[in-house]
Amino acid sequence: MKITNICCIGAGYVGGPTMAIIALKCPHIKVTVVDLNEKRIAAWNDADVNNIPIYEPGLSAVVAEARGRNLFFSTDVDKAIDEADMIFISVNTPTKMYGVGKGMAADLKYIELCARQIARVAKDDKIVVEKSTLPVRTASAIKDILNHTGNGVQFQILSNPEFLAEGTAVEDLFAPDRVLIGGDSTLEGKKAIQQLVDIYTNWVSKDRILTTNVWSSELSKLTANAFLAQRVSSINALSELCEKTGADVNEVAKAIGMDSRIGSKFLKASVGFGGSCFQKDILNLVYIAKSYGLDEVADYWEQVIIMNDHQKRRFAKNIIKTLYNTVSGKKIAFLGWAFKKDTNDTRESAAIYVANDLLSEQANISVYDPKVSFDQIQMDLNYLETRSPEENANGVQVVASVYETCKNSHAIAVLTEWDEFKTYDWQKIYDSMLKPAFLFDGRNLLNKSELERIGFVYKAIGS
Ligand code: UDX
Ligand code: UDX
Repeated sequence: MKITNICCIGAGYVGGPTMAIIALKCPHIKVTVVDLNEKRIAAWNDADVNNIPIYEPGLSAVVAEARGRNLFFSTDVDKAIDEADMIFISVNTPTKMYGVGKGMAADLKYIELCARQIARVAKDDKIVVEKSTLPVRTASAIKDILNHTGNGVQFQILSNPEFLAEGTAVEDLFAPDRVLIGGDSTLEGKKAIQQLVDIYTNWVSKDRILTTNVWSSELSKLTANAFLAQRVSSINALSELCEKTGADVNEVAKAIGMDSRIGSKFLKASVGFGGSCFQKDILNLVYIAKSYGLDEVADYWEQVIIMNDHQKRRFAKNIIKTLYNTVSGKKIAFLGWAFKKDTNDTRESAAIYVANDLLSEQANISVYDPKVSFDQIQMDLNYLETRSPEENANGVQVVASVYETCKNSHAIAVLTEWDEFKTYDWQKIYDSMLKPAFLFDGRNLLNKSELERIGFVYKAIGS
C-alpha cells in the first residue's frame, strides 16, 4: 500500500519545516500538521507567508507553494489522526523539571499523550513515526500503549530522527547527509520501513537512506548531537588555554581541521553552544548511562555540558573584570540573542545566561537582534527565575536600531553571528560609545585589526 495521507503532531521547528518539504516533494500525498497551540497554527495559516511562526531561510517560499495544495495546518488532531496512514510525532521532549531524573531525563509526557490519543482515535492500521529525539527504547513504550487498545488496530512504530540544523533547515531537508529509519525486523516492520523509504526516495537518493533497528536509530540521534556538541566544547576548552598562552584559537582550529581525519566543521570557538537539542540530548545520554550503572560513561559526556556552562560564565566574568570589576549601572549592548544566526529560536541561547550573570551585577542591557522580540527575551529571562519579571523588564531594553543600542554603552558583546553585524559602520558605533570602547566578540565574527585601528579594545574568544 502506498502512503497517501500523512499527519504530523507538533508544528514546531522540526515538524513544520520537515512536513513542508515532504509536501513540496510529494504532491501526491496529503500532509496535515496539527498542534494544540491555536496561535501557532493560525500563524502557519496566515495569509501572508512571511508571518509563519518559524523563521528559516527559504521556508516561506516552500510553504507558499504547498500550502492549500497538499499541505494543511490544523488544530483538529483527532480528524488528522483518523485520516492518516502514517503519523509523525514531533512534539517537544523537554528536560524533566520534576521527580525522578529531574534536570536530566527527557519528559515524555507529551509523547505518551500523543500515543494515547492515537490509540483512542485510530480505527484502521497505522504507521507511527517518532520524529522527536527520544531516549533509547521509547518506541517500546509507545508500542505498549498502542498495542493495548483492544480494538484490533495494528500499529508499526518507526524511528526517523531529524538531523536538520536550524537556520539551514530547508537546505538540510532538501539534501540530507543521510535519512535514518529504524524499525522492527518482522515482515510488517520491514514493510513499514519500506513505505517510509518510498516517501524519501521522491527526492533523496537511495544510498543516503539508512535502515537500522529502532534502538540503533534512537541512539544514533543522541550520539550525533553529543559528538557535535563535544567538538564545540573541545575547541572552547582550548580557547581558554589560547587566551592564556598567546595562541589564536582560529589558527589552531584551522591547523587541526585540515587533517582530514578531524575535519574542519564544528570547530568554531564561541561563547557556548545553545539550541533546544545539544544540552537536552547529552543530559539524556548521561541519564541513560547512569540508569544502567555506567558511571564513567555518564561522567565523560557530562563534561561536555560542564565545559559549556563554564564557557558562558567565563564570558560574562571577563566582561565584568575588564570593565574594572564592576558593571553596576553600566550599559552593555548585546548584538544578537538567538542561539545562532538565521533563526528566531532562543532556546538555551548563551545570551540568556550571559545576560543573567550581568543583570545580577546590576548592568543595564540593551539588546539588538534582527529576529527576536522584547517579549521573547523577557520570557527567556523570567524562565530562569533568578529575579522578578519587573526587575528583568527594568534591566533589559530592546531598540530597533543597532546604533541606538550601542550609543552611550560601555561595552558591546556579540552573542550571535548574524552576518549583518559585519556590515555595520563601526566607526559610527565607536564614536557614540563611552571610552574606552570595549568590544567582546563571543563569536569570533568581526575583523580584529580593523576594529583596533578604529580604537576599540577588542577581545575575541580564544585570542
Ligand atoms: C521538538 C524537540 O525539541 C526535539 O527534541 C524533537 O526532536 C522534536 O520536537 P521542536 O520542533 O523544535 O523540536 O519543538 P517545538 O518547536 O517546541 O514544537 C513542538 C510542538 O508540539 C509545539 O508547537 C507544541 O505546541 C506541540 N505539541 C506539544 C502538541 O501539539 N501536542 C502536545 O501534546 C505537545
Ligand atoms: C543541532 C544539530 O546540528 C542537528 O543535526 C540536530 O538535528 C539538532 O541539533 P542546531 O541546534 O539547530 O542543530 O544547530 P547547530 O548548528 O548544530 O548549532 C548548535 C549550537 O552550537 C549553536 O549555538 C551554535 O552557535 C554552536 N556552534 C556550532 C558553535 O559554537 N561552534 C561551532 O563550530 C558549531
